[in-house]
Amino acid sequence: MEIAPGAFHLHRRLTLEDQRALVAECRALVDGPVPAYVPVVRGGGRMHVRMLCLGRHWNGKTYAYEPTRSDFDDLPAPPLPAAFRRVAETLAREVGMPFAPDLCILNYYDADGRMGLHQDKDEAERSLAAGLPVVSLSLGDTARFLFGGLKRKDPVEARRLESGDAFVFGGPARLRYHGVSRIEPGTAPRELDLEGRFNLTFRQYDVD
Ligand code: SIN
Ligand code: MN
Repeated sequence: MEIAPGAFHLHRRLTLEDQRALVAECRALVDGPVPAYVPVVRGGGRMHVRMLCLGRHWNGKTYAYEPTRSDFDDLPAPPLPAAFRRVAETLAREVGMPFAPDLCILNYYDADGRMGLHQDKDEAERSLAAGLPVVSLSLGDTARFLFGGLKRKDPVEARRLESGDAFVFGGPARLRYHGVSRIEPGTAPRELDLEGRFNLTFRQYDVD
């Protein structure tokens, strides 16, 4: 389960029932009053996901967090649902990490979805220095997830993140490069009736 110091892959950790409930909430959110959108990042490239930030908005132009979506439509980031927060807290506790998440980036990947190698490092310096984790939940189609080192050129390990998997990286692993090279279309559990993949990454912006 601990694949590297501070990095944990919890295979099929969520029950199908839990996954169904989370998927229903994700669907309602991404097509809700503050909908998911395709960010255009610094440099002008379009991301290959639909993104919706909950609790705090990550601005793809400035790489900073903010209360409203000033890079898109100026709408406020919807609150982080309590049920989402509880799942993430439970998972962090299971791997022995303190965590009080206050924001989540919800991404939807279609069959062509992907995400280049990057570090998650836009949270407050104190949160990063404390090694507070990123807790990632995968729902729907399997993703080929790349997990590298602390430098972009470090070797990268490919793992399949399946529906119901959790992946937690904190402590010494908090700033490791990671990304998604591809989605395996049609691999979602039939019971979810979902084409594509939702991924939720929870973070704690700052230390209390
Ligand atoms: C991310 O790094 O923000 C997303 C990772 C994933 O989709 O598994
Ligand atoms: Mn990331």
